[in-house]
Amino acid sequence: RPFMIYDNHKRPITYLRLAVTDRCNLRCFYCMPEEGIKYLPKHQLLTYEEMERVVRVLAQLGVSKVRITGGEPFVRANLMDFMRRLAVIDGLDDLSMTTNGVLTAPHVRELAELGVRSVNLSLDTLDRERFHRITRRDELPAVLQTLDALLAAGIQTKINAVVMDGQNIEDIGPLVELTRNQPVDVRFIEEMPFNGEGSHYPVLHWTHQRIVDEIRAQYPDLAKLSDPPFSTSANYQIPGHRGTVGVIAAFSRTFCGTCNRIRLTAQGTLKTCLYDNGVLDVRALLRNQATDAELTDAFLRAFAHRPVNGFEAERQRDTVTESMATIGG
Ligand code: GTP
Ligand code: 5AD
Ligand code: SF4
Repeated sequence: RPFMIYDNHKRPITYLRLAVTDRCNLRCFYCMPEEGIKYLPKHQLLTYEEMERVVRVLAQLGVSKVRITGGEPFVRANLMDFMRRLAVIDGLDDLSMTTNGVLTAPHVRELAELGVRSVNLSLDTLDRERFHRITRRDELPAVLQTLDALLAAGIQTKINAVVMDGQNIEDIGPLVELTRNQPVDVRFIEEMPFNGEGSHYPVLHWTHQRIVDEIRAQYPDLAKLSDPPFSTSANYQIPGHRGTVGVIAAFSRTFCGTCNRIRLTAQGTLKTCLYDNGVLDVRALLRNQATDAELTDAFLRAFAHRPVNGFEAERQRDTVTESMATIGG
């Protein structure tokens, strides 16, 4: 590794979240309205060749981890061809993915062969009717097949469950139970107000503290683990269980201070904070024949202007209109 880049607040930039599409085959109500969001026309999306080039340049700048996100990554055609090309990029030592699991199971073995060590699976409930209600699609069986395939392939699997008042509180116990016999990390996430509908900044009912209290009420010996560096989750374990339990304060956002991540949206906009509206039009640079040196230069300038706590500014707004699928998680 040549060197590591730090931002203007001495945080290393080592982690890229790369959205390969804004489309999704589910309609989770906390993310999108029933009719979906206004999807980008195809020519506005980065091509795989363009994305690969960006990743190569960033890998030279010290980005060693890339997480493929969306929308739902597998909704984009030929995703596995792209994964194969990313897997061999010099300097990338962690290639991972966040997926809803609907189309993923048939590809799990190949993901493992490519060296994908970890996959985050969105799964808010183990109850088929509640799954249907939350995602507006009856796809729980396919998602559970993906979970089984991931565990069978030895891929480290984190389950992401958004905690929603009145929707899946009764699922907290059964999801925690998954950790008893399986080496799975179940992470409960505070619901963020990005449902694409446009709404007032809501009051959060299920804060990270309340989620922990709820788990502890059911499992009094819940023990705190030490968290890996740059972890979004506070991690716990029930003694004797194979897996772990985590809580992500996505709404309260307690982790800006150690944020090592940048994002590239499906249309090729660089975000250096979840809450900025895009600080660099990478697609325009690419399509105007920028050289690698010019791309590098533009990235370095963007990294030198990262907000120290984008969330604080965001909270001053009183309405939110974005969808999580365009923000990229
Ligand atoms: P790893 O640490 O790489 O396992 O991934 P992760 O937990 O950051 O990513 P994942 O895609 O599984 O997202 C889990 C939850 O964290 C989602 O609800 C994301 O929206 C949220 N999340 C990820 N990054 C950020 C961030 O920078 N800010 C906020 N508020 N939430 C984030
Ligand atoms: N609040 C919290 N998490 C969300 N996700 C999507 N929308 C929201 C939201 N409004 C989660 C998904 C996925 C991850 C990338 O982001 O469940 O696991
Ligand atoms: Fe799709 Fe993920 Fe949004 Fe659900 S949360 S609609 S799975 S992008």
